[in-house]
Amino acid sequence: MDTLFAIHARHSCRAFSRRPVPEHELGQILRAGQQAPIAGAMYSNMQLTAIHDRRLIDTMTARYQKLTANLDARPFYDAPTLIVIATNSYIAGGIGLANAGTVAQTMMLAATSLGISSILLTSWVRVLRDEADLIAQLLLERTLVPVAAVALGYAEGEKTGGPTARSMTVKHVY
Ligand SMILES: Cc1cc2nc3c(=O)[nH]c(=O)nc-3n(C[C@H](O)[C@H](O)[C@H](O)COP(=O)(O)O)c2cc1C
Repeated sequence: MDTLFAIHARHSCRAFSRRPVPEHELGQILRAGQQAPIAGAMYSNMQLTAIHDRRLIDTMTARYQKLTANLDARPFYDAPTLIVIATNSYIAGGIGLANAGTVAQTMMLAATSLGISSILLTSWVRVLRDEADLIAQLLLERTLVPVAAVALGYAEGEKTGGPTARSMTVKHVY
């Protein structure tokens, strides 16, 4: 798929089927993410943890529901695979988030080009980051903390339209 086409076709999926992401495609997406630009080329500041374990995603969902007192919450939209993006704790709020953004978008564009749906998720981090037993299961290097996750899978049901055209303020200075 042409890159520009993928950029315009990508959109957030909030209803995933249980169909798993094939290992080969997941590998391609993980490799794409590692090609993203990282501030100062400090790639050792970053870690990707691919969660294939449905039970762990369900446990994280249940904990999120408990902590937010919202039993209907679906922070991961039942996605079969999550790629947690972690960064060094001392840059987690600034450059680390920007780094995570470039990694996430690169992986989501790769996913789109492979026909795989995705969404970037950060709201779970605020709720679950102090849940030591869950964070331990992300196998993070000692100085790293999670800042985001990309959920991957196949959309449940028919796709309801593509992304709408968006606009930001754009100015030109000549
Ligand atoms: C930094 C960031 C964090 C996000 N976190 C969440 C999230 O926690 N939950 C969610 O449903 N969507 C989340 N999104 C998805 C945005 O809501 C979505 O990208 C936006 O509405 C535009 O829609 P589109 O992705 O379909 O183009 C996040 C997006 C970004 C860029």
